[in-house]
Amino acid sequence: MEISSVKRMLSKVVQLEEGKETVATGFRTGLNKAFPFKLLLLLGFFLAFSAAFIIVSVSTIKYYGINSVMTSVTSSFVPCRERTNVLDKWIKPPLPLMHNMSDEELLWRASFVPQRKDYPFNRVPKIAFMFLTMGPLPLSPLWEMLLKGHEKHYSVYIHSQVFPSAEFPPSSVFYRRQIPSQIAEWGRMTMCDAERRLLANALLDISNEWFVLLSESCIPLYNFTTIYGYIANSKHSFMGSFDDPSPYGRGRYDGNMSPEVSIDQWRKGSQWFEVNRELAVSIVKDTLYYPKFKEFCTPACYVDEHYFPTMLSIERPAELANRSVTWVDWSRGGPHPATFGQADINEEFFARILKGDNCTYNGDYTSLCYLFARKFSPSALEPLIQIAPKILSF
Ligand SMILES: *[C@@H]1O[C@H](CO)[C@@H](O)[C@H](O)[C@H]1NC(C)=O
Ligand SMILES: *[C@@H]1O[C@H](CO)[C@@H](O)[C@H](O)[C@H]1NC(C)=O
Ligand SMILES: *[C@@H]1O[C@H](CO)[C@@H](O)[C@H](O)[C@H]1NC(C)=O
Ligand SMILES: *[C@@H]1O[C@H](CO)[C@@H](O)[C@H](O)[C@H]1NC(C)=O
Repeated sequence: MEISSVKRMLSKVVQLEEGKETVATGFRTGLNKAFPFKLLLLLGFFLAFSAAFIIVSVSTIKYYGINSVMTSVTSSFVPCRERTNVLDKWIKPPLPLMHNMSDEELLWRASFVPQRKDYPFNRVPKIAFMFLTMGPLPLSPLWEMLLKGHEKHYSVYIHSQVFPSAEFPPSSVFYRRQIPSQIAEWGRMTMCDAERRLLANALLDISNEWFVLLSESCIPLYNFTTIYGYIANSKHSFMGSFDDPSPYGRGRYDGNMSPEVSIDQWRKGSQWFEVNRELAVSIVKDTLYYPKFKEFCTPACYVDEHYFPTMLSIERPAELANRSVTWVDWSRGGPHPATFGQADINEEFFARILKGDNCTYNGDYTSLCYLFARKFSPSALEPLIQIAPKILSF
């Protein structure tokens, strides 16, 4: 079409030239001599222009193929053709969760952050419940009770070395929520790698705003409305972080970590955290502290108790509550906290957990300090389900 229009233009020029020729012959004035020369110049210009146009057109067709040229031509005549919704790719949670990205690719992708504050769609912020488990999830019926009916406000992710979450029925909140997982060992960097993997996968859903790390022995202590409100209205993220002068705190510090980490910046805290989206991005994007902790915090330095608390206390101290919202009982002593079974589950036990402490929330004192608790054995499930409606209000 473009070529034919050029031809038409050319023929017009020729006609024009002929017309001028006849006009010119009719007058035969002194101006006559100048006319053919100007026309010749004009014609030459047009010939050069057309030649260039044809060369460009032909090479374009050669380069992009006749099809793309034809499509671009036809598309201007078919304005009703559907356009692909590219934005969807960015705002819809990616499914399925199983992908083949390497950790390096995943952490890079997960560190993308929009630079505009407002979202061009109705974003309902969600809590990502991230289950880091060694085996199956024996307490899953309790979590089903908690989460059912709140689908718009949560997402679930499972990092598990053995249990394929595909075994949950399609009606389950855990159905196909497993992410690509690898071996994670307590106290080693592979544990922090698993936590970063969970955060990174959860970050791929732009609606996830808060990220809670849980284990298979964790239980919720309140109904969903209370948990969501507590986390959403908090000015701080619940990452445990404190300076422990003992051999189990500062004693684990290695001078090789300076200058990135000095002894007074060294922190300890529970592995079970809640962080907001900004802190989650800080964790997945970190390449400064990671190599130092990987090399110089190996057992008896338990890196999962130090890496995130220390790193975030240096980078974003004002955003941390410096306490965890996951209750745990160390009172029985030893290297592991107490595990509670069937015989422990009663009202007095929960009264101690729910009201027995005093902490700060947005600057005020409160006895509502914990939203989750551990550790509970599979035998605790039945009594917990019995007691949940009365004591835990769900
Ligand atoms: C993922 O799969 C694609 C093809 O489906 C392949 O090109 C790519 O190399 C794979 N990536 C990894 C990290 O295996
Ligand atoms: C959730 O629990 C709170 C007390 O923690 C209670 O006041 C509220 O009514 C409960 N909400 C629902 C929907 O059960
Ligand atoms: C948590 O500790 C940091 C210092 O590591 C401090 O700057 C911050 O204010 C503390 N957060 C709260 C809520 O007190
Ligand atoms: C919590 O502790 C603070 C200071 O230690 C005290 O002022 C406050 O009354 C306590 N609150 C409760 C509910 O015990």
